[in-house]
Amino acid sequence: MRVLNATNLFNLNNILRENIKRTKPYSSARDEYKGNEGVFLDANENALGSVTKENYNRYPDPLQKEVKELLANLKQVKAEQIFLGNGSDEAIDLLYRAVCQPGVDNVITMPPTYGMYEVSANINDVQVKEVPLTADFEIQTEKVLAAIDAHTKMIFVCSPNNPTGNSLQPASIEKILQSFNGIVAIDEAYIDFAANKSFIPKLKQYPNLVVLQTFSKAWGLAALRLGTAYASEEIIAVINKIKPPYNINQLTQELALEALGKVLKKEEMVAEILFQREKLVKQLSEIKFVTKIFPSDANFILIKTADGKKVYDFLIEKKIITRDRSKVTLCEGCIRITIGTKDENELLLKELKSYKD
Ligand SMILES: Cc1ncc(COP(=O)(O)O)c(C=O)c1O
Repeated sequence: MRVLNATNLFNLNNILRENIKRTKPYSSARDEYKGNEGVFLDANENALGSVTKENYNRYPDPLQKEVKELLANLKQVKAEQIFLGNGSDEAIDLLYRAVCQPGVDNVITMPPTYGMYEVSANINDVQVKEVPLTADFEIQTEKVLAAIDAHTKMIFVCSPNNPTGNSLQPASIEKILQSFNGIVAIDEAYIDFAANKSFIPKLKQYPNLVVLQTFSKAWGLAALRLGTAYASEEIIAVINKIKPPYNINQLTQELALEALGKVLKKEEMVAEILFQREKLVKQLSEIKFVTKIFPSDANFILIKTADGKKVYDFLIEKKIITRDRSKVTLCEGCIRITIGTKDENELLLKELKSYKD
């Protein structure tokens, strides 16, 4: 029912939940009066200041306009096409709430992939239809399209994919975008480390596209909890309508502004991580019990051994913490290793070389 031949049949109104259509957003004090100057007696803040050295007594900008202005320029989209969330996880959850009727609707994921699509589905009582990737971690496009039914509201595509590390084929992603009249959410958390380009420029072409990115990886700001969603103005307006009013705190907004003035520093860090990744792959390939190193477009690599759990436990004993993925579909025997600093990677290699399988 939801498989189409043409892209332009997407109609957000057809997939929004009725209660979301009816919902009037909370109107905050800062939504009603937008000036910066005046005597602010409207929001029940503490007019005297804060107990801390710096003052944080005023509520932050609910729509984070300054941050969005810089991001719009960087990503070449309109500020109205950007949603900022408390991590990309908030954007994922809000998308579920906007379009998935609990107990009725479903989404499609392609395991092995990022776990939050399923967790968020479970929290929202939404069925997950799994169409696994191939053994080479590529999309089974025809099977994905065949899995779509009248209640399929979203398809999650993680590219570069976590935990496999590879970018998924752009042609397969595009086929899905063209053939589905629900939302296609492309999670590009690791895009800065990839050879492939972002799908953001394709927002003009595909009204059903949502691109998720984050400040947690290449920008090195995981502690801020700042994720972004890029989509049509129409989709972003709905997410903004249902988000908590002040979801991005003042400190995060200030640090994001600082970060966006340091794009070059981010690129230097990405270059160093890519250099370390290449070096690590080369050195791991010389270790006999590592039977496979999967190609990575991310800041981590997935390696296969005869007994992934045993290698993981061995490393834990050495106080080196990796991610045991050996029980994950298609990842039998695998551990996922984040690229560390030069010294951390050298220590990892030293310990791995002393491992007896
Ligand atoms: C694919 C993917 N998307 C999203 C996230 C989470 O991003 P955030 O920190 O912005 O919530 C992760 C975190 O590991 C991830 O692997």
